[in-house]
Amino acid sequence: MAGTVHVIDHPLVQHKLTLMRSKETSTSKFRSLLREISMLLAYEVWRDLKTSLVDIETPIAPMKAPMLDGKKTAIIAILRAGGGILEGMLDVLPSARIGHIGLYRDPKTLEPVEYYYKVPESLDSREVIVVDPMLATGNSAVAAVARLKESNPRSIKFVCLLTCPEGIKVFHAAHPEVPIYTAAIDERLNEKSYIVPGLGDAGDRLFGTK
Ligand code: URA
Repeated sequence: MAGTVHVIDHPLVQHKLTLMRSKETSTSKFRSLLREISMLLAYEVWRDLKTSLVDIETPIAPMKAPMLDGKKTAIIAILRAGGGILEGMLDVLPSARIGHIGLYRDPKTLEPVEYYYKVPESLDSREVIVVDPMLATGNSAVAAVARLKESNPRSIKFVCLLTCPEGIKVFHAAHPEVPIYTAAIDERLNEKSYIVPGLGDAGDRLFGTK
């Protein structure tokens, strides 16, 4: 089964992404852009949220108006850069539950090793959104989603800012049923596993660590 990739090519998203890519963009601007762009990605990611009609009264007349059903979403951020997307998505859906997964790459085996895992209870009744700005090699994303599947969530979606053909291939080989939402698919990975042209190290740019 071929996996689905949604590229969100809205002009506002593309404009903000260009500003984020530029090496001239400061840490504080990068952070606020990631938050804004994540709100815009959230509209597409949650396009299928269910609503029910409720009775309200406007100042003019009573009406039946749509409201979101329940609070059954969990956003799981892959540390450390996933926190940047998490904030923007929470601005749009503040009732979502939050989880974090920390993974590092073992220098010998090159396999992802989990060092932190804290997610909401009862994931089996929730739609899970896994967020990480860069889907590069795909290894952390594959490991994070595999770990979350142990809790049998109702569904899983993966949200990133940028990806590349190599990352998509690895991710969908492991999790073909998990759709990817991204602002762009770049050309390739370089020998250091950075996305080209990309935007550099998302964590460093977000936190100003380099
Ligand atoms: N992680 C990043 O932060 N940037 C890349 O280009 C690839 C992985």
